[in-house]
Order: sequence, then C-alpha cells, then structure tokens
Amino acid sequence: MKIVQTVEALKALIRQAKREGKTVGFVPTMGYLHEGHLTLMRQAKAEQDVVVASIFVNPLQFGPTEDFAVYPRDLERDSLLAESAGVDLLFTPPVEEMYPSGHASMLTSVEVSEITTGLCGASRPGHFRGVTTVVNKLFNIVEPDRAYFGQKDAQQVAVIKQMVKDLNMNVTVVAVPIVRETDGLALSSRNVFLSQTERQAALVLSRSLRLANEMLAGGCRQAGELRKAIAEMIEKEPLAHIDYIAITDAETLKEAEVITKPVLVALAVRIGKTRLIDNMVWEG
Ligand code: PAF
Repeated sequence: MKIVQTVEALKALIRQAKREGKTVGFVPTMGYLHEGHLTLMRQAKAEQDVVVASIFVNPLQFGPTEDFAVYPRDLERDSLLAESAGVDLLFTPPVEEMYPSGHASMLTSVEVSEITTGLCGASRPGHFRGVTTVVNKLFNIVEPDRAYFGQKDAQQVAVIKQMVKDLNMNVTVVAVPIVRETDGLALSSRNVFLSQTERQAALVLSRSLRLANEMLAGGCRQAGELRKAIAEMIEKEPLAHIDYIAITDAETLKEAEVITKPVLVALAVRIGKTRLIDNMVWEG
C-alpha cells in the first residue's frame, strides 16, 4: 500500500493505473477506522482492481460547536488496518492540501437542496454542503468507477446519490449495509467517546429499531404510531436524548404518514455528549 499526501502524486498514480486498464474503487473516510470502514474497503477490493481510500477529517462539514478538534485520529493504526483490508493507495492529505486558502475561504461549494434540510440537516446546518463539496473534490481527484459509503449514514448516501445523478457524475455509488457489534450497537468512530455506562445506554438505538421492525412486520402502517413507540422506548433510557426520529420514504427522505413503500426509520440520539445515529430500511 502506498500512502500519498498530495493531490498531484495521487492523480499520477491513478492515471498510471487507468492507463493499465484498471478499474478504481474509492472509499472516502474520516479515519479512526473500524470494521464498518474495513467492510467497505474489502467490498471495493472484491469488485475493483485498485482500491483508493482517503482519510481526511473535513473541517467544512463540522459546525462551529461540533467535535472537529476532538474527532478521533490515529493515522498509524488506520494505515495498518487499511492495508490489511486491501487498500492500494491511501490518500491522507493535510487540510492545506485540500483547502490551500483555508476551508473558510472556499468560494465554491456543492449543495443538494430539500433532502438535506430534514433529519441530520435540521440540527447540523451546512453539514451536507461540506460533505458534498469535499466528496465532489475527492471524486474529481480520484475519478473512481465505484465509490463505497456506509448505509449507517443513510441521509449522506441519499444526498451523494442525488448529487451524482443531478450532476451526471461518472461514478456508481454503492451503499454497504450497517455493521453492528454482536449486541446491536452500530459501529461508529464516535463510539470511542462513550463510557461503559453510556455504551450500554446506546443500545437503545438498535433496540428501538428492532421494535420498529417488529411493528412493521406485524402490520403497523401509521408512522405516528411507530414514532410514538420508538420515542417511548428511548425516553425510558435516562442517558438518551432524542435529536430526531424520522420515518421517511427511503429515497426521497420525505416524511411518511401512512407507510406504503420502502421506508427509512432513522434516529439521532444524544447519549451524554455523544450524538449517535442509526437506521433501518423496511422494504415492505
Ligand atoms: O462519512 C464520512 O466519513 C464523511 O462524511 C465523508 C464521506 C468521508 C466526507 O468527509
């Protein structure tokens, strides 16, 4: 595995691979890799000739009061894990390489409207503009055939798919199912912030999604009823504070009232100071 820090060096290596007729899979990450990221990398390796992964904690997608400064970072450990998962080129640009004039001075951004205003967008204004802008930059640098994203960030996947479709971008977006601990906790780099007690409390997210699944399988078609049952379960957990419970069309992310087609049940819950998200798609 080669570790590359500059855009020019990465582009040269990718040009070379493409000249040899190789396909390129891309896994963009913010690092502090866990089994969820490694699953994306392994899938990319199984499907593509060359796998590029990026590790870049993107300041543009963090609000002023969010956890950019303390977001966990461990490049040494990440490099070993990425290599073990089959990554060929690991792109680890410093912030100045991605934003030479500073991220706050960027004059250009890419913004997807409507589907970015609800769910995480409601409490994280500007977040998705930061995500789509950096992903656009990364796609322009890597020019991947396929790019792999975790379904845990269901809204991010929907937003990136929309951007790719609307801007005729030459890449296939692949959504990879959520990876969970054996007790149900969805893997996240932010889980490292949880104390032992908080980690136990965090299980309420997957537990309430299981309840939603059972209710849907049992015939419940009223989003209101589902939301109420989920809220009641989460509110019983003293360390948990609901940011949102969204029951939406799985593609358009429009709020559902009566459930008639594949539906996304998505949650954001604060456990102590840590904001966790989780979701399930019910195909019907
Ligand atoms: O999902 C993430 O880790 C980030 O939002 C991404 C896609 C790497 C963009 O910074």
